[in-house]
Amino acid sequence: MQERKSPTCDVVVLLSGTGSNLQALIDSARTDDSPVRIAAVISNRADAYGLQRAQDAGIATRFLDHKAFEGREAFDHALIELIDTFAPKLVVLAGFMRILSADFVRHYQGRLLNIHPSLLPKYKGLHTHQRALEAGDTEHGCSVHFVTEELDGGPLVVQAVIPVELHDSPQSLAQRVHVQEHQIYPLAVRWFAEGRLTLGDQGALLDGQLLAASGHLIRT
Ligand code: GRF
Repeated sequence: MQERKSPTCDVVVLLSGTGSNLQALIDSARTDDSPVRIAAVISNRADAYGLQRAQDAGIATRFLDHKAFEGREAFDHALIELIDTFAPKLVVLAGFMRILSADFVRHYQGRLLNIHPSLLPKYKGLHTHQRALEAGDTEHGCSVHFVTEELDGGPLVVQAVIPVELHDSPQSLAQRVHVQEHQIYPLAVRWFAEGRLTLGDQGALLDGQLLAASGHLIRT
């Protein structure tokens, strides 16, 4: 008898840029036993290369220009309407360079994931690789977390930790962190799609067990 597959989990990905994380998600969703289906990719930038990647993979794309709206709330409401036409179970932020309104975050409570290029709670915001180097950190990495109203502050799901090397520049460090991002984001999305990852009152749960504050740790 065939093993029973989890039902398909429709995902909408939001991005503003290159979309290398989107590509990792596309590649992972293509594997035979993946329950993940990327239903659409939405960008606030028409020239985002991630839109091209999606088109090449036969995924629906939409462009919603934030500059066409009077303020954050109006854009975010239009974005919610657009996302919800695809009825996703999960919304994934993959380099979406917008601060989200409280209404948006509440609307997708428990089904909104983000990836951030630092070992949160360290280095929220931008220039994370440079800040890690300036601080003399010996370890750096990336984090997947549920999104809450606090910027880069929601419960952690998984972190990948890499050593900082003596001659690292922000660029070399970014490159190695990116490789890890492409591992942990598909992993977290898959856990969610399989129904293994949920958001509880106390934090992120994997298989019903509360994860540590750092999330599931992967060291390389
Ligand atoms: C990644 O570094 C991610 O951590 C951050 O935005 C960047 C997106 O990169 N949130 P890409 O467009 O997926 O290559």
